[in-house]
Amino acid sequence: MDEREQERPRVVLGVSGGIAAYKACELLRRLTESGHDVRVVPTASALHFVGEATWSALSGNPATTEVWESVHEVPHVRIGQAADLVVVAPATADLLAKAAHGLADDLLTNTLLTARCPVVFAPAMHTEMWENPATQENVATLRRRGALVIDPAVGRLTGVDTGKGRFPDPAAIFEFCRRVLARGPRAAEQDLAGRHVVVSAGGTREPLDPVRYLGNRSSGKQGYALAGTAAARGARVTLVAGNTELPDPAGVDVIHIGTARQLHEAVLKAAADADAVVMAAAVADFRPAVYTTGKIKKVDGQDPEPVTLVRNPDILAEISAERARPGQLVVGFAAETDDVLANGRAKLARKGCDLLVVNEVGETKAFGSDGNEAVILAADGTETPVPYGPKEALADTVWDLVAPRLAETRP
Ligand code: CTP
Repeated sequence: MDEREQERPRVVLGVSGGIAAYKACELLRRLTESGHDVRVVPTASALHFVGEATWSALSGNPATTEVWESVHEVPHVRIGQAADLVVVAPATADLLAKAAHGLADDLLTNTLLTARCPVVFAPAMHTEMWENPATQENVATLRRRGALVIDPAVGRLTGVDTGKGRFPDPAAIFEFCRRVLARGPRAAEQDLAGRHVVVSAGGTREPLDPVRYLGNRSSGKQGYALAGTAAARGARVTLVAGNTELPDPAGVDVIHIGTARQLHEAVLKAAADADAVVMAAAVADFRPAVYTTGKIKKVDGQDPEPVTLVRNPDILAEISAERARPGQLVVGFAAETDDVLANGRAKLARKGCDLLVVNEVGETKAFGSDGNEAVILAADGTETPVPYGPKEALADTVWDLVAPRLAETRP
């Protein structure tokens, strides 16, 4: 093995016997193409869906199910010990039950017992099986022990039926794994486990008539990065998303909204049992006073009617003033073009939140880009500068400041 081989993060892709096994091929491809050394460990049932030849050809490594092959290499211990990440996708109800009870009757379940790295499960099954108290208790046990279990998506299942239990988009599972790996040794900490966090993201749209709206340039990337990083740190995440073209992150409950008033309603509802609320959405401060039900037409020779605007609720100020539960932490964002810090400090006091992420915006700054630079102001007077870097790094710094403040209250 040359040096570069050794540097590649080692991922074990466990595949259990569900129809979604075929979608795990795409996850495998994304992992290998992004430079991970992947060892696929299928269960015997998984091979009914996708054969050994596919797993070994796509991964470039042998794909074995039993502990009795290559025994001299002691695979049942070595594979788990050497891994930087184990991801079981799809994880069936049976596999979750075995993992929760520490059973070890094949190579995958042995690997799960020997892994010291972060372990991610991506369950996929019929709604009834997912909702069964046995499965729910097994999931709770695994989470309590530090595993990251991605809630299945809602949608079309194997047959004609629809419900919760669908395997999330492999690209979204890949993103989830990438974020967990990016945390390195800190991935095991999961300092948001047992917490419910609400994140708002993207821009609102305020309709004028059926074809026109007042909008803004928010891409939603910062809020989505906050939601994704919180999930990788073990939180239950509700993402209230305004207009954005981004795909839903895996394991995150996404509520899509259009207007500021819809955002207001959805955030307040989700915040009722939240430990933290982060308002990263670009909320329109004003909306047209009148919504015209038919398209507004131009009339030759006449000036257009002026548009009258009215104020929208200030969600951040409202949730800061009326905390839904004691100790709830509220984080705001401030986009400023001038006097950035002075305006930020005044805004922190005015809004009454605990933390305010202040960034400078302009034609080329913040909006739509993958990077961001900010100063995080805290109500206790501290200031945390965050140098220019990926929006995920800023998101992690926000959670680094939130987590210890939450630790003072029990999950
Ligand atoms: N925000 C909100 N509700 C609004 C407007 C803004 O909850 N109606 C939140 C945003 O999500 C963000 C913070 O308030 O977290 C700051 O938004 P910003 O537009 O920078 O501040 P404004 O209060 O609108 O102040 P101004 O436009 O005067 O700078």
